Amino acid sequence: MPVASDPRSAWIESTLGAMTLEQKAGEMTQLTLGALLEGTNPYEPTEPHRLDLEKVRKAVETYHIGSVLNCGNHAFTLERWRELVSQLQTVAAERFPATPILYGVDAVHGANYTTGAALSPQQIGLAATWNPELVYDLAAGTALELQAAGTPWNFAPILDVGRDPRWPRFWETFGEDPMLVSRLGVAAVTGTQSVGVAATMKHFLGYSMPLTGKDRTPAWIPERQLHEIFVPPFRAAIEAGAMTVMINSSEISGIPVHSDEALLTGLLREELGFGGLAVTDWEDIKYLVHRHKVAATYKDAVEMAIRAGIDMSMVPADLKFPALVVELVREGRISEDRIDASVRRILAVKWDLGLVAESNPPAEHVVDASWRAGQRQACLEAAEQSITLLKNASQTLPLSADRPIWVSGPTAHSLAALNGGWTGTWQGTDPRYDTPGAITAVEALKSSWNADVFHFELAMDFDAGDIAAAVRDFRRHDGAQVAVVFLGEMPYTEMAGNDEEVQLNANQTALVEALAATGASVVGVYLGGRPRRMEAAVEALDGFIMGYLPGNEGGTAIARVLNGAVNPSGHLPFTWPRKTGAHLTYDHKYTETLDLDSSFTAFNPLFEFGSGLNYSTLELVDFQTDQTVYNLQDTIRAQVTLRNAGQRAAEDVVHLYSHDHVASVTPSVWRLAGFERVAVQAGESVDIAYELPVQQLGFVGRDLAYVVEPGDFTLRIDSLTTTISVNP
Ligand code: BGC
Repeated sequence: MPVASDPRSAWIESTLGAMTLEQKAGEMTQLTLGALLEGTNPYEPTEPHRLDLEKVRKAVETYHIGSVLNCGNHAFTLERWRELVSQLQTVAAERFPATPILYGVDAVHGANYTTGAALSPQQIGLAATWNPELVYDLAAGTALELQAAGTPWNFAPILDVGRDPRWPRFWETFGEDPMLVSRLGVAAVTGTQSVGVAATMKHFLGYSMPLTGKDRTPAWIPERQLHEIFVPPFRAAIEAGAMTVMINSSEISGIPVHSDEALLTGLLREELGFGGLAVTDWEDIKYLVHRHKVAATYKDAVEMAIRAGIDMSMVPADLKFPALVVELVREGRISEDRIDASVRRILAVKWDLGLVAESNPPAEHVVDASWRAGQRQACLEAAEQSITLLKNASQTLPLSADRPIWVSGPTAHSLAALNGGWTGTWQGTDPRYDTPGAITAVEALKSSWNADVFHFELAMDFDAGDIAAAVRDFRRHDGAQVAVVFLGEMPYTEMAGNDEEVQLNANQTALVEALAATGASVVGVYLGGRPRRMEAAVEALDGFIMGYLPGNEGGTAIARVLNGAVNPSGHLPFTWPRKTGAHLTYDHKYTETLDLDSSFTAFNPLFEFGSGLNYSTLELVDFQTDQTVYNLQDTIRAQVTLRNAGQRAAEDVVHLYSHDHVASVTPSVWRLAGFERVAVQAGESVDIAYELPVQQLGFVGRDLAYVVEPGDFTLRIDSLTTTISVNP
């Protein structure tokens, strides 16, 4: 038993010492709020949501639950949140020992379950900003909202690497590159925790690359790839002090992760040194029985998951779990010491968040209208930095706000299409929880245009007759300089987003083609969280903008990019495939692009990773390194000059890539080695410096240990290359 030398350990040890086994098992139990509300179905509680105090007392006093999550599937006002949570804490304060409830929510793009909170772009859009400082600030802002609500545990960020757009949670990721995910992941974790809210690294491990593409289906990931691609963001977040982790609901190579001791204890705790709280995902211990079929009974499953390394079970609605934990200990199948280890980790988080009376509660933060206005401004800037210009034939963009435009498309007049899932509700599709006062893209265009904005409304399922009517309407407004068509998808979360095609809906392509056939200029704006195959539509468009899921301020940001008030600076955090069946990430291997004629040319995405145009004329020149020969412990100092030969101030993200000429494990064609976001005034130049430790040029070797092999490497910025050597 650790020596209780400081107030934190003293509280943890005295609390643990005073707990019965039943209380310890309860502490490890996390219940969904719906199970504590009035009504008979925890998934559809009676409206308006009210705590059923009898259920609360039973859960807190009889079952000793340690934690509650989420919201009964819809948003509340901040005042309502405070009331709800304080009612729970009042009951918890009466138990002995008095352990507070640890309240966790999914606030993945702002406090998306608090009515009126500022909503930022979803993670995939934030990734397109390539701006860790901005991600840090937004995460801290979200955390302050959560803290004010009494819910100081955020189930974010997602550190899964988005390698495959078929996976329906792709939009929740920071994109396809492990370094980008790591840097933004660390920013999100440290931003969240900077104001005393716990971040959650999720979902450990290998969740984002199921073989079928469908959510929660099996992944087959060899250990080398696991370490090369999926571990780095978690390693970085652990080093940055992430307090909690959530486990992957699915399986890797036949082993459900919730039952995988090698991953949850061997890798997570022993190798990566994680000392925080590990929570299961939704109902996942039970699923070891019902879905994965590696346990015959729920009790066996509980034993398996605890042995593997979980601390807390998101049960989420019934209270059988704690009794099974107690039985397992009484029967000698799990030691009480093992239970104590988990309870210590849970109590430590409660202390560190200032939930315990004797600990240091964080200063009370006032969430008022003016603070929220500041947050909305930050969200607007994030959306503006994310928006990615991918095509601009004949300089169609920017448009003049002094000339009329015609606007249509199924995502033009939808807040849901701007925000995506986890907004107001889990699926993000219930308009009753739209943020009051938030405006859609077409409303934003109307308010930022001096000339007329003609809107022709279309729902998602429009047909050929609607297209003909749209074209007639467009022709009628022949003063409009351009047709702006909002394409994309409506929100989905988790399995609801499984999609066997991942193509742009055929009616949207037909709409674009019909408008283009009029001979007018057509600009497409895509609102959605993953790249869909849409070569024909992009071909027919004059201009094409990727808006991602930019949040409530996204409409305004898009309007400002379209009319040139903002010079776009977002860059794709993923590779946009051209063909079904031809998806490769940018860091593919040579032989993945092998073609019949023995060339390596079969890599032809619609848009490359890192793509992003702007309205200036930017040139990169003078790429240099400080030396040409390095030792293994050296840092390469590289520099390039970005020159703005255009008429407008610009921001740009400049990527540094590396390529290992010969390696004992087949090298990637390119790997991201660094990136910088810089501003450059019209007519001016800026020097951009990169520091690249030689140690970063390594890979997971044949023996599964990380290795940097001496030899030659090419470094590349845009089309500028230089070769360096690393000495043995
Ligand atoms: C998701 C998690 C989420 C949890 C709680 C699960 O279905 O996979 O990402 O944190 O629900 O809402």
